[in-house]
Amino acid sequence: MPESAAPSTASPQRPPLPLRPEVEGLEGSKILEVWRLGFGRSDLIPLWVGEGDQPTPDFIGRAAVQALHNGHTTYTHKRGWPDLRAALADYAERHYGVRPVDEAISVTSAGMNAIALIMQAIVRPGDEVVVVSPIWPNAPAAARIAGAQVVPVDLDPLPEGGFNLDMEKLASACTSATRAIFVASPSNPTGWMMEREQQRQLLDLCRARGIWLIADEVYHRFVYDRAVAPSFLAIGEPEDPLFIVHSFSKSWAMTGWRLGWMYHPPSMALVFEGLIEFSTSGAPNFLQAGALAALREGEAFAAEITASCATGAEIVHGHLAGLPRVTIAKPQASFYAFFAVEGMRDSLAFAKQILNETGVGLAPGSAFGDGGEGFLRLCFASSHERLEMAMQRLQPVLR
Ligand SMILES: Cc1ncc(COP(=O)(O)O)c(C=O)c1O
Repeated sequence: MPESAAPSTASPQRPPLPLRPEVEGLEGSKILEVWRLGFGRSDLIPLWVGEGDQPTPDFIGRAAVQALHNGHTTYTHKRGWPDLRAALADYAERHYGVRPVDEAISVTSAGMNAIALIMQAIVRPGDEVVVVSPIWPNAPAAARIAGAQVVPVDLDPLPEGGFNLDMEKLASACTSATRAIFVASPSNPTGWMMEREQQRQLLDLCRARGIWLIADEVYHRFVYDRAVAPSFLAIGEPEDPLFIVHSFSKSWAMTGWRLGWMYHPPSMALVFEGLIEFSTSGAPNFLQAGALAALREGEAFAAEITASCATGAEIVHGHLAGLPRVTIAKPQASFYAFFAVEGMRDSLAFAKQILNETGVGLAPGSAFGDGGEGFLRLCFASSHERLEMAMQRLQPVLR
């Protein structure tokens, strides 16, 4: 399910005729399974999804409402308003010192849609897509829907908490069938972040072996020891086999707007124009005014939300690190704590137990692939009062 959605509680029914096997075989979300248990509970503290508890700032909302009143209600440019694309080139230049050409930028109906469009563009039935795991399940699901076999490469948990990517393991997971490597950095759910040197090695690997690299950088502002996370944008060449996925959801509290963008090879502008035309036919017209306001006037808000998450990380780490059964590193990036609990064999069962006993909603680590078993994920983008309250409730059950 989308990180934030309240899904239907209706039990699934069999369709009258078979569906595509890729769709029949899709696994249900384990976060959703826990969510169903907590539905309607009045004391619930939901820390299971990827968003905080504050609404979109007013200046963004006002810009969209104004555009609505001004008649921006028609079909519009498939790859997004030209001035929005120009603002996205400015944004890249401001943060990474690189200005992509207009043909390298497409506005999408959020980051998820960008990922699905990329998979549609490149995946052939039977291709393999290697994913750095544990991973937000929507990305591998998009690869599977497009017909790929997903090959997870697990990050290695460090004894003191935190994770490491073994580049040799990643390279040896690639075969002649590998079409793409997907890496989210900063990562959901682990908070791991790829440093520049590994980025160079990975890009070189993809160049040498003719593999597409899909870099999900939607959390690039959520990093706690520097201004922004390292980006492939800073090291890529325009016609590298490289896609960079971004979103308005996280940095400007716009999860419900469903707006994102991607940087892609300029030679693919017409490909994405077509794929967008034949799916959403473009991100909603007047909402793009909100996105433009976010880019032009939203630096202070993005900095504030990151600073608030930095405090959220301190709160969560401060409480959980002292518990003998918990192994947690100080979160370095993204807005998730992904912590191991000694003796926990089944994270889904334990997340349900925690919900029942405390009313705190956490995501089971197994929702992010087999390598996530043994862990729980907690989103610390909520208000500090809420986090403190959650910590008081969690301590007895995690002790
Ligand atoms: C790693 C990652 N990539 C992409 C997305 C997509 O975000 P959206 O579709 O809201 O833009 C999310 C959402 O939680 C995410 O965690």
